[in-house]
Formats: sequence, structure tokens, C-alpha cells
Amino acid sequence: MANYFKNHDYKIVSIEYNKYTPEVKNAYKNLKDYKNLTLLFGNSFEILPKLITEDCCILIDGPKRLKAIKLAINSLKKPLVKAVFIHDLYRDSPHRKDTEKTFLNFFFTDDYDYVKKFRYLDKQNWIDQRKYKEHRSWGPYKRGEKKMKSYSSTLLVVFNSNNFCDMSQFKKHTDEYKNIKRYWSIKYLIDGWPKRLMKIIQFPINYIFYEKVYNSKKQISKRELLKKWILFTYQIVKKLFRKRVSYYKIDE
Ligand SMILES: C[S@@+](CC[C@H](N)C(=O)[O-])C[C@H]1O[C@@H](n2cnc3c(N)ncnc32)[C@H](O)[C@@H]1O
Repeated sequence: MANYFKNHDYKIVSIEYNKYTPEVKNAYKNLKDYKNLTLLFGNSFEILPKLITEDCCILIDGPKRLKAIKLAINSLKKPLVKAVFIHDLYRDSPHRKDTEKTFLNFFFTDDYDYVKKFRYLDKQNWIDQRKYKEHRSWGPYKRGEKKMKSYSSTLLVVFNSNNFCDMSQFKKHTDEYKNIKRYWSIKYLIDGWPKRLMKIIQFPINYIFYEKVYNSKKQISKRELLKKWILFTYQIVKKLFRKRVSYYKIDE
């Protein structure tokens, strides 16, 4: 987006949850030359409402799933938000069907007509992503051996209006979802470990990178690094057992 809008007068703000992760290192490397972009750190549920001071659009790529839909609903309550995009609500997602019932003025980028018209834009991306081990086997309608019902990860695009969603449908979905959540929670707990461990192992590199390159800090004490490393690991483990907190709720 920063590249596409580089000659326009649009400001882009990107929010990352945590400073000391590989995503930030990648984001910094890819984005440092764009003057139209600001990178902020923290929880979008807290930061986003303060940023909505003029007409804007919001693209949610994290948090994912139910939290993403909640963040979208909270944001769309503000008329300054003209549209919200949510990543990863592909047809195999457990939230897809109810998302279709919840929002009223929307489309998905895996709609067959949309794919037919725009898939040519993706050609080079499929080739480029072969560089990345974990995505090498991904392609249109497949992730490795697994067939996908959607062309790819998919963006949901919701346009704002006075009546942008049917809350009773969303409520029904969240009630029903409580039953299937256990399965997904266990899957999340188990499947997420390789990634979590990598984050913990790579923490010192990411910390030093952030403080030295991003924050231009000259000296980093070992003690400080160790303290932060322990805290980071504690936070990752704590997150797994965390109860739902109030800012993940729908705003009244
Ligand atoms: C798929 S990654 C996207 C990384 C990067 N922005 C990019 O486009 O390459 C999703 C990111 O969302 C962030 N995230 C998840 N929940 C969040 C929240 N509540 N507030 C802010 N960021 C969040 C995570 O830290 C993670 O880095």
C-alpha cells in the first residue's frame, strides 16, 4: 500500500503488537524508505480508536478471526471509517459463513468473478513467494497438499453505512462458536509452538536489531537484554492462558 500510494497525499499507519519480533525486522527492512508510513507498537484495540480522526480505511491482518471481526465492528461504528478490510477469512475459515450473514455491504476477494478479473495481478507474487520455505508450496486454491476452497488468503471488504451489520447474527455466531472454540484453541495451542519457540529463540537478535537500528541505541546491557528476554517468554506463555479481556469486547 505504501508503494501504491507513494505519490498520493495519504498517510499510512501500521500497527504491530510487539517490537521485538521478526515481523518488525522485516517490516523495517521493507518499509524504511517510505516517507508516507508510520509504524506504531501496541494493541490495535487501544491504539486504533485514537487514530480515527479523519476519513480513513482500516486493513486488519492481526488480530485474526473473531477478534478481527470485533475490531472491525468497533471501528465501523465510527462514520469516519469508510471501509474495513479483514485478511484470512477464506472459505475454510470457521467464521466465514457467519461473517457473510453479519455484514451487510461487503465482498470477498475470493469471489469467483473478482478472481477471474484480477488474478493476473498475482502472477509474480506466486513466483516470488517460492523464496520462502513455509509458503513455497502455496498456490491458487492450494496450500501444499491441502486443497483450499478459496483462491488464496482473501480479503473481506466491508463498506460502512448507518446499518453496516446485523448484530443478532454476530451474537448468534459467537454463542455457537463457543462450542467449536475448544477444538480451535487446542489446535492453536499445539500448532503455534514452532513459531512461538522461534520467536523466543530469536528474541536477542530482534531486540538488538530494534534497539540499535530502529532506536539508534549505542549500548545494550546484557542484564537488560536478559530481563526483557525473560519477560517476553513469560508474556508468550501467559497469553496462552489469558482470559478474555475487556477491550476484546464489542463497544456499546
Ligand atoms: C500476519 S502478521 C502481519 C505482519 C506485517 N504487518 C506484514 O504485513 O508483514 C500479523 C501481525 O498482527 C499483529 N497483531 C496481532 N494482534 C494484534 C493487536 N491486537 N494489535 C496490534 N497488532 C496485532 C502481530 O503482532 C503480527 O505481527
